[in-house]
Amino acid sequence: MDKTTVLGKNRSGVDISPIDIKQMMSLAKVTPASSPGDEKAIAQMREEYIAEADVIGSVPLPGTLKGMASTAMEKLMGKSPEGFIDKLGCRLAFERTGVRLYDALITKCSTAPMSSNISLDRLNEFRNEEFQHFKLVENAIRSIGADPTAQTPSADVDGVISLGLIQVLTDPRTSVAHCLEAMLTAELADNDGWRMLIMLAEKMGMEDMARDFQQALREEDEHLVSIRQWFKEMVIKDTVGT
Ligand SMILES: [Fe+2]
Ligand SMILES: [Fe+2]
Repeated sequence: MDKTTVLGKNRSGVDISPIDIKQMMSLAKVTPASSPGDEKAIAQMREEYIAEADVIGSVPLPGTLKGMASTAMEKLMGKSPEGFIDKLGCRLAFERTGVRLYDALITKCSTAPMSSNISLDRLNEFRNEEFQHFKLVENAIRSIGADPTAQTPSADVDGVISLGLIQVLTDPRTSVAHCLEAMLTAELADNDGWRMLIMLAEKMGMEDMARDFQQALREEDEHLVSIRQWFKEMVIKDTVGT
């Protein structure tokens, strides 16, 4: 297996040129900061922005709330359906991203010069399960009369969180191990996201929905175990060589 980590011409550390360290340090001392003050100024500015800011987005009113009756919506009445819809929308977006992450990982593993225990068949299974989970959440959203095409605030925030993961997976220079580390982050969040959604569904009285979500969680558990194991094996091989 090709190593993930290689020795090379990395010039980011000061030890590359010990003779210049003193000069570099003295330059830092004589060069004034571009603006006066300390970290309190940035905190103050952020506070001002926070005080003025509107919410990051809103949850659209479900069609059923506008007049149509549904058994599901009756159960949600008196609670906070918008909070539940927000989290459903968040899971929907994450599962869609999950499909794209696995697509990128499959391409990486198919082309990277390596031999490992990673099974492309298993990766394809995981990818298809993420897609099934996406469809499951889409149907759940529709069942309560909400719109799965609407981006909820939590979905928006999750999209921003996932940006780094997508970048790692699609960067042609990253290794399979780097991508597995990003996937491990994704699957840990994925796993917790499902647990949260199941808990919410139960508390909202949506037992059937919670049961369907339990099946997704069982599959997510398998994703997590495999990704964690493959990542660990690659790091050990790369570091200790066995
Ligand atoms: Fe997932
Ligand atoms: Fe997953």
